[in-house]
Amino acid sequence: MSDGRLCARDVRVEFSGLRALDCVTLELARGEIVGLIGPNGSGKTTLVNAITRQVPLAAGEVSVDGASLSGLRPHEVARRGIARSFQIVRLFDHLTVAENVEAAALAQGLGRRAAQGRVGALLAEFGLARQAETLAAALSYGDKRRVEIARALAAEPSFLILDEPAAGMNEGESEVLLSLLSRLPAERKLGLLIIDHDMPLIMRLCHRLHVLASGRTIAEGDVESVRRNPAVIEAYLGSAAEAGHA
Ligand SMILES: Nc1ncnc2c1ncn2[C@@H]1O[C@H](COP(=O)(O)OP(=O)(O)O)[C@@H](O)[C@H]1O
Ligand SMILES: [Mg+2]
Repeated sequence: MSDGRLCARDVRVEFSGLRALDCVTLELARGEIVGLIGPNGSGKTTLVNAITRQVPLAAGEVSVDGASLSGLRPHEVARRGIARSFQIVRLFDHLTVAENVEAAALAQGLGRRAAQGRVGALLAEFGLARQAETLAAALSYGDKRRVEIARALAAEPSFLILDEPAAGMNEGESEVLLSLLSRLPAERKLGLLIIDHDMPLIMRLCHRLHVLASGRTIAEGDVESVRRNPAVIEAYLGSAAEAGHA
């Protein structure tokens, strides 16, 4: 039975004594866009890594449609319908754009012809058709970011997690990204979890926000209530003050 939900419940992650996450519970339904925000070092990437089993959980559980992901390897998590991008771009530099996206479709067990069909459609949708035969290494930063997202979508995931997709993009590139991302959940019936520091982008894109500070959830809810939440304001002012003294 499918309830169309990704659920991380009471998650704790520790790195040699440091508690990077504690008691974090986050749900993502298909069709919705949730923003995961918080100061640097608050545990956002670690939560994504915990969901995709790239770091071990010290406590808690992650499930998809009610089925636990415990004991699965990262590639098995992908087969349960969770795709992600990384904070640092991870493309195969020596492969073309089309080959990068095709590799993800083939990894899902798709035949070559079906994979190529899927790749063509994705590159067209992402405005990358003209660069299909370009080596990934030669792309602009914004284009690399879009290839990463196209590659994640090649697996036709139910849940897409993007770790700072707009980092390093200029304003025009962020606008293009925003309009691409805003369509995805409804068109593909997928749940989108997005981490980004571009607050105007996050506020316009997301249906709901989840805020971490020092590894704990300090607020969650709709964009307006989170924006006005005193704990959130303080967490951001605190980190801005620290940055000022650094
Ligand atoms: N692999 C790791 N080993 C040790 N400490 C880590 C590791 N990954 C993250 N951390 C620590 O966990 C905390 C949360 O980091 P991270 O999840 O990357 O934060 P964010 O993505 O919110 O900036 C930080 O204190 C960071 O130094
Ligand atoms: Mg991070």
